[in-house]
Amino acid sequence: MYTITASNEIAENIFEIWVEAPHVATHAQAGQFVIIRVDETGERIPLTISAVTGDRVRIIFMAVGKTTHALAGIQAGEDIADIAGPLGKPSEIEKYGTCVLVGGGVGIASLPFIAQSLKKADNRVIGIIGARSANFLILEDEMRSICDELCITTDDGSKGFHGFAADILKELNNTRKLDAVWIIGPTIMMKVTAEVTREKKVQTFVSLNPIMVDGTGMCGSCRCRVGNETKFACVDGPEFDAHAVDFNLLMQRQRMYTEMERISLERFHEYTCTSREEQ
Ligand SMILES: Cc1cc2nc3c(=O)[nH]c(=O)nc-3n(C[C@H](O)[C@H](O)[C@H](O)COP(=O)(O)OP(=O)(O)OC[C@H]3O[C@@H](n4cnc5c(N)ncnc54)[C@H](O)[C@@H]3O)c2cc1C
Ligand code: FES
Repeated sequence: MYTITASNEIAENIFEIWVEAPHVATHAQAGQFVIIRVDETGERIPLTISAVTGDRVRIIFMAVGKTTHALAGIQAGEDIADIAGPLGKPSEIEKYGTCVLVGGGVGIASLPFIAQSLKKADNRVIGIIGARSANFLILEDEMRSICDELCITTDDGSKGFHGFAADILKELNNTRKLDAVWIIGPTIMMKVTAEVTREKKVQTFVSLNPIMVDGTGMCGSCRCRVGNETKFACVDGPEFDAHAVDFNLLMQRQRMYTEMERISLERFHEYTCTSREEQ
C-alpha cells in the first residue's frame, strides 16, 4: 500500500496528489510515468510523474472516467494499492540551446520536471501553457519560477493570449532560432502544434498517451506507428519524434473502448450514490 500524503483540486476537475513511493522517487527522471491501481480490484492507469520531492512523487490528473474519479476521491492519509514505476524512457535531455515547452490542459503537468532538467543542462527554456479557459490553467507560478520566459494562452481569452499555444509557437518559430521543442497535451493539439516546426525541421518531441495496460512492453495495447515502424509507447516512448508519429491511428486506437468506459463511469456514479444513501 502507498500513502497519499496530499490531495488537492488545483483547477476545475484537475487534481494533484503526492504519493509516498521511495522506489519511484529515487529513480524517476523527467518524461517518465507510473502505473497506478487505486485498489486491489481496480484497473491500472498510466499517469506522468510531474515532480519529485524526497520520497514522494507528484501526479496531476483530470477526472475523466471511473479510475480517475475514484483517485480524486482519495484523501490525504489514505492509501492506494499500487504505484509501479518509473516506466518509459526519460526525456532526451541535453544542451540544445533554446528550448520551448508547450503544454495543453492537463498535459502541462509533465512540463516542470522537463523544464527543470533542461535548465540544469544549461538551456534557455521558454514555456507556453494553454487551457480552454483560466479556470482550467495549472502550474502557472511553478512554470514561471523555472522558465526564462512564460506565455499563457486560453481558447476563450479569459487569461493571457486569446488563442492557441500553436499561435505563440508559430510566432517564436518565425522570429527566433529554436533548437528543441516539447509539445504535450491532447492528441489533436499535439498533432496540429507539431506542424509548426516541421518545415524548419526543429527537433520536436511529443508524449503519446495510447491505452496502456501492463506498461512493460508485453501486452501490445499501446502500439503506435512512428516513422512507419511499430513502437510500444510504454517502453519505446512515451516521447517520440513529433514529425514521424501517425496521430490519426493513435486517435483511432484511443477511441476503442469509449462505450465500455461510458458504462463503467455510469456504474461507478450509481455505486457511489447508493453507498452515500446507505450511510
Ligand atoms: C504515458 C501516459 C501518461 C499519462 N499521464 C497523464 C497525466 O499525467 N494526467 C492525466 O490526467 N492523464 C494522463 N494520462 C491519461 C490517463 O491515463 C487516463 O486519463 C486514465 O487512464 C483515464 O482512466 P479512467 O478510468 O478515469 O477513464 P476511462 O473512462 O477508462 O477512460 C477515459 C479516457 O482515458 C484514456 N484511457 C483510459 N484508460 C487508459 C489506459 N489504461 N491507458 C491510457 N489511457 C487510458 C482513454 O483515452 C479514454 O478514452 C496518461 C496516459 C499515458 C499513456
Ligand atoms: S502497455 Fe502493454 S505493451 Fe505497452
